[in-house]
Amino acid sequence: MVKVLFVCLGNICRSPTAHGVFDALVKREGLAGKVMVDSAGTAAWHVGKAPDNRSQLAAKHRGVDLSYIAARQVEVRDLDTFDYILAMDKSNFENLIELSESTNRNKIKLFLAYSEHFTATEVPDPYYGGAKGFDTVLDLVEDACDGLLEDIRLNHAV
Ligand code: 4NP
Repeated sequence: MVKVLFVCLGNICRSPTAHGVFDALVKREGLAGKVMVDSAGTAAWHVGKAPDNRSQLAAKHRGVDLSYIAARQVEVRDLDTFDYILAMDKSNFENLIELSESTNRNKIKLFLAYSEHFTATEVPDPYYGGAKGFDTVLDLVEDACDGLLEDIRLNHAV
C-alpha cells in the first residue's frame, strides 16, 4: 500500500481538496486497494470539521465529493506512516520539516513539485479570499494529482 498525506494549515480548504480529488482519481484508476489517501493540517483550529463549504462547492462543480472528510491535525507518527507527505505551501513544508526526524525528511515535498502544467510552487491559501481562489486551488490540485499518480506508478509499480 502506498500512503499519501496532503498537508495544509487548517485542513479545511486546500489539503481536503487534494484528498478528495486524489481519492477520486485513485478509485477511477482502480487503485483503491493499492493507494491510501489522507489529509491533515499543521494547526488544530478546525479539528473534526468538514471541509469549508466554498471548497466543497467548487469541488462539487468538478464532480468531486469532499463531504466525507473531517479535519485533523498532523501527528509526528504520520511522518513514519506515510510515503508521500505533500505540503501545500512553503510554510506548511517548513513546519513539517521541523516536526520530522532526519530519516523521514526525504518524504516531505511541496505538492506542486508534481504539477505538470503550472509554474506555481505553492497552492495559495483561499480562506480569506473570494470564490475564484477556490477554483484556482482545484486547477492546481487536479494537475498535480495527475503528476503524483504518474510518480507513484513509476516508483511503486502499482
Ligand atoms: P487551509 O486554509 O489551510 O487551506 O485549510 C485555511 C483554513 C483556515 C484558516 C487558514 C487557512 N484559518 O485561519 O482559520
